[in-house]
Amino acid sequence: MSSLDFEALKTEFIQKLSQLTKEADVLNLKADYLGKSGIITELLKKMKDLSPEDRKTVGPKANELKDIVNLEVQKKIDLLEVEAINQKLAENRIDISYTENLKVNSNSHGGYHPRTLVQQEIEDIFLSMGFDVLDGPHIENEFTNFEALNIPGDHPARDMQDTFWFHDEKSPVGKKHLLRTHTSTIQVRGMLSRKPPFKFIAPGVVFRCERTDASHEMVFTQLEGMMVDENISVSHLIYFMKTILKEIFKRDVEVRLRPGFFPFVEPGFELDIRCLICEGKGCSVCKHIGWVELLPCGMVHPNVLKAGGIDPEKYNGFAFGLGLDRLVMMKYGIDDIRHLQSADLRFNTQFKTY
Ligand code: PHE
Repeated sequence: MSSLDFEALKTEFIQKLSQLTKEADVLNLKADYLGKSGIITELLKKMKDLSPEDRKTVGPKANELKDIVNLEVQKKIDLLEVEAINQKLAENRIDISYTENLKVNSNSHGGYHPRTLVQQEIEDIFLSMGFDVLDGPHIENEFTNFEALNIPGDHPARDMQDTFWFHDEKSPVGKKHLLRTHTSTIQVRGMLSRKPPFKFIAPGVVFRCERTDASHEMVFTQLEGMMVDENISVSHLIYFMKTILKEIFKRDVEVRLRPGFFPFVEPGFELDIRCLICEGKGCSVCKHIGWVELLPCGMVHPNVLKAGGIDPEKYNGFAFGLGLDRLVMMKYGIDDIRHLQSADLRFNTQFKTY
């Protein structure tokens, strides 16, 4: 076989390849040349019948052609892939200059999330009573989330709040980072940044590493409140709590106070409200007891005041941590806390208010 024949073979192959548009056809063509009984394979098989002279010229030529086929086939497959991607991109392209695409249904417009609605309402009520509204970071240190709140490292109360920790083992004690487990962190920040007398609320999301169910979420919202002055008593606390609940529900709600333990308050209470979903008959939200834990509260512990730079001999105060999501559920009759975080439009669009 002469060099010319090889050139012809190569030209024929390139020409055939250029006409193909499917990967499967390309692979078939490859088999025609390099398969078990492919043209080049056959050629190589016949090498043994050639004279040593011819073998010297034909061998390298056949191998060269084999390499060319392999290379060209790979190049063609890559090209077909790129073309397929480009075609997909072209098909999915949205021409934003084309006004048809800009037309929106004039009846569909956004609204507030029910949580935002309730939060705004509560903020307004507290603002009208002279409270400030504070904010704070989600990533906190151990000092602000625990130690300043009278929960030292070995305190069993840390187990009450399953915590998402950051891996910064080298941090010194009190400086380790975590996702705040409660908005009580803002009590600390609030105390350190002002002088008494003061009163403020602090709404925000908090994080707990716990199993979710109809009444528990890993990410949920609380609304913290704190009032510090001279001669504050439990009756101030009860007055503010009753007023706020009455304003929110626009009716008298049945409440009960139970003793509750939180290291940062003394005495501490749990304020429950009669379940408004089932009217106290028992449902998944109230865990079939007819009451919903809504508002842990109490008189600020002297150690907490001290950590906040406040003289506990002169001042005292109350604090509460309202479970905002639970309140939203009670107000709107939502029977599963997970709906709030679901971003499901069928849920969200029920609360439009303008
Ligand atoms: N921070 C407490 C919690 O999340 C709630 C609380 C706040 C209790 C203020 C008492 C006073 O569990």
